[in-house]
Amino acid sequence: MANPLRKHLYIANWKMHKTITEAIDYLQVFNPLIHASADIYLAAPFTAIHALSQEVKRLHAPVRIGAQNMADEPKGAFTGEVSVSMLVEAGAQFVILGHSERRLLYFEDNAIINRKVHLALNANLPVIYCIGETQEERTACKMKEVLKKQLKEGLSGIKIENAANITIAYEPVWAIGNGQAATPKDAEEMQEFIRTQIAELWNEEIAIKMRILYGGSINTSNAAGFLEEKDIDGLLVGGASLDPRSFSEITNLN
Ligand code: PGA
Repeated sequence: MANPLRKHLYIANWKMHKTITEAIDYLQVFNPLIHASADIYLAAPFTAIHALSQEVKRLHAPVRIGAQNMADEPKGAFTGEVSVSMLVEAGAQFVILGHSERRLLYFEDNAIINRKVHLALNANLPVIYCIGETQEERTACKMKEVLKKQLKEGLSGIKIENAANITIAYEPVWAIGNGQAATPKDAEEMQEFIRTQIAELWNEEIAIKMRILYGGSINTSNAAGFLEEKDIDGLLVGGASLDPRSFSEITNLN
């Protein structure tokens, strides 16, 4: 059940989908469908962030627009990269960091991600920090070890006053994009563990307030089961967020 200290949060991770026009069309369909009792974020491609933020303002839509990644340097000769200040000026209100596709396909390690986390938080940009074990690590029963390391190294040096700007997304890599979600019980076991680690990194009060989301093959049929668990404070949705109707069915579960 939802903890009153932690309002449910639903994030659409569009990945490399949606042009500017498609993103605006989505918002126009999505906005009238949603109830605003939960927080709703849309993680758009870089190119759509500015136009989409303008459209959110125009429609007074109860959603926040953010990015799926950013550079690990503030500025300079880094061809093709996008900095935190560029994101903020474009209208981004959060950034996803450490997604497993960034870790696995673009070789981002905990140290690189940690630099990004620092840059975002120093710019007051809230961070959705993704962690999760691979199938191999799960088979070897190393889930907790991996999660602990990702939390310790990825969040190293983050001051307690910035912790309120962090949301954790537990996304087991073996459950992403393949229709094979974790069971709510398995996810809860890991998320409860993550909360104990947050308490160790900072303190109990921070841990109680920090939102921990589940992500990995969430759809309109399985979403509700996850929200019944005490340490699951919302969902990070990939494939099922691409259609405004199915994503609104999920956000309206609240
Ligand atoms: P999925 O993606 O819902 O398509 O499994 C989730 C994610 O990668 O954030």
